[in-house]
Amino acid sequence: MKIAVGADHGGFERKAAIIGTLRKLGHAVTDMGTDSDESVDYPDYAAKVAGAVSRGRAERGVLICGTGIGMSIAANKFPKVRAAVVWNVKTASLAAEHNKANVLCLSGRFLKPALIPKMLGAWLATPFGGSRHERRVKKIAKLEAQACRRG
Ligand code: RB5
Repeated sequence: MKIAVGADHGGFERKAAIIGTLRKLGHAVTDMGTDSDESVDYPDYAAKVAGAVSRGRAERGVLICGTGIGMSIAANKFPKVRAAVVWNVKTASLAAEHNKANVLCLSGRFLKPALIPKMLGAWLATPFGGSRHERRVKKIAKLEAQACRRG
């Protein structure tokens, strides 16, 4: 799978290990920065990764900032992006099963590093549940289409 990965300075320290985990799992990863711990603005990196997912250039995205929250707020502005902040293995798998999340937002400051590979593995290995979840995800797409029409 093609996966785009981006971080701000709050997530930079975790980015290399995340890319390593994804590559070890057999995925084709594009590193979209940032490339140092110098302070940057998370919306710029959310735009790179969520933009790639939105345009179909990547199937999934992973974003890391201090909390994961700012990245998710910015990423969810992009059409067809369902970005989820997750904080353990169970929420990572539920983001796939219930929400069909195509972007995972992680905290670089509040997650134990050893947990992150397990969370990524769970998110990537869990299939979408369909059925009632499909109906709900379709409702989200409808809200997005309505919001786009309203401008
Ligand atoms: C940067 O200090 C911090 O605000 C950012 O990494 C992120 O946590 C925002 O949600």
